Amino acid sequence: MKLLVIGSGGREHALAWKLLQSSRVMRPITIFVAPGNAGTSLEDGLENLPITAIPELVEFARKESIAFTIVGPEAPLAGGVVDAFRAAGQKIFGPTRQAAQLETSKDFSKAFMTRHGIPTAAYATFDSPAEAHHYLDQQGAPIVIKADGLAGGKGVVVATTLAEAHAAVDAMLVENQLGNAGARVVIEEFLEGEEASFIAMADGRHVLPLATSQDHKRLKDGDQGPNTGGMGAYSPAPVITPKLHARIMREVIHAAMNGMEKEGESYTGFLYAGLMIAPDGGIKVLEFNCRMGDPETEVIMARLKSNLVTLMEHAVNGTLDKVEAEWDRRTALGVVLAAHGYPDSPRKGDVIHGLSELPSMAAPEKDFYVFHAGTALDDENREEIVTAGGRVLCVTALADGVKFAQRRAYEIADQIHFDGCQMRHDIGHWAINKHRK
Ligand code: AMP
Ligand code: GLY
Repeated sequence: MKLLVIGSGGREHALAWKLLQSSRVMRPITIFVAPGNAGTSLEDGLENLPITAIPELVEFARKESIAFTIVGPEAPLAGGVVDAFRAAGQKIFGPTRQAAQLETSKDFSKAFMTRHGIPTAAYATFDSPAEAHHYLDQQGAPIVIKADGLAGGKGVVVATTLAEAHAAVDAMLVENQLGNAGARVVIEEFLEGEEASFIAMADGRHVLPLATSQDHKRLKDGDQGPNTGGMGAYSPAPVITPKLHARIMREVIHAAMNGMEKEGESYTGFLYAGLMIAPDGGIKVLEFNCRMGDPETEVIMARLKSNLVTLMEHAVNGTLDKVEAEWDRRTALGVVLAAHGYPDSPRKGDVIHGLSELPSMAAPEKDFYVFHAGTALDDENREEIVTAGGRVLCVTALADGVKFAQRRAYEIADQIHFDGCQMRHDIGHWAINKHRK
């Protein structure tokens, strides 16, 4: 059996790693990762494929008789990879380009939520700077300005003053700093509370919720500094009580699935709701993503005990109602090691030390995994691994409770070094403080 995972981050390493574990108990599987990273190239059973163009991926899947393909990031989904695979009769897990608008257009997503009664912050959409400025003056600060299109994590400004808010509107609508993505903006009510990530697998008719998680978006300790793709995560998210879980399934996940079906575009793929949980327990959707989160995937996969190949087969065959996912009771916590200059201009080529001295990934009692993201084998010295992207590694540990998982993750992370390495030292702090209270 051959499988294909599209992408090159920590998310894709974690997915491929979990598929590979399934293969050890089922039957031999070769898992191609396109284009992959140093971590996926070094693991036995995984093979990197230096392809990113959609027609070439389709051709590869056809020629190699790939059983099914999983899409990691949003860019290929926005480019129509699922439509192209299906048109060629190839099995793939992800939403169509049309359905992916839930992530690729904030305006579409907000209007969709409004049409289907899914709880979300009040908002208005503008392409005229004058009207946007006028609206800001009416609403006051704090307020949130979001580019309509995909902006690689740079499209959201949480403005604490009106001056910042006006500047964000000018940057997007007048100076065109985000290009087409910022040619329209959504201006949204500022919400207070605790964020959580709720991710489900959807097959068009049925949904299978995955374990809950929480991500730390800001670069620096204490949730300070610029927004990033995510500097660390843990699973489960204690803020999501069983009662809230049931409400989120009903009011958000099923509501979105039903809404998409009513609009003639049944949703397949991972559906990720970024939620704000208010102090009074109210839930609002901050955003939908049409993929798994990164680094949420790393901690979710670390806890998944079920066979991922089996889950995926049900997902692509429309039978997710026939399976359940089983989770490790322990907490998984992942700490991201990011490159110098991340998130603005990450430096490449710094040699990463300490990886080969860590206990073997294959040890059965192993309670940690180092997932690779922006890494590459050095061009000249193939023994060396160098930084090759913004987020470089995600050190993920499993332990009883978030405090011990945090301690273990940092014990391992502290053994890895590269010039300019940035990492937060407080991943898990919300859950740990909640526990203290
Ligand atoms: P988004 O891409 O829409 O999830 O926004 C990125 C980040 O900005 C979120 O993870 C939040 O931390 C923050 N954010 C987005 N919308 C709001 C809002 N309405 N109120 C407060 N913070 C927000
Ligand atoms: N970690 C947040 C995301 O993947 O969007």
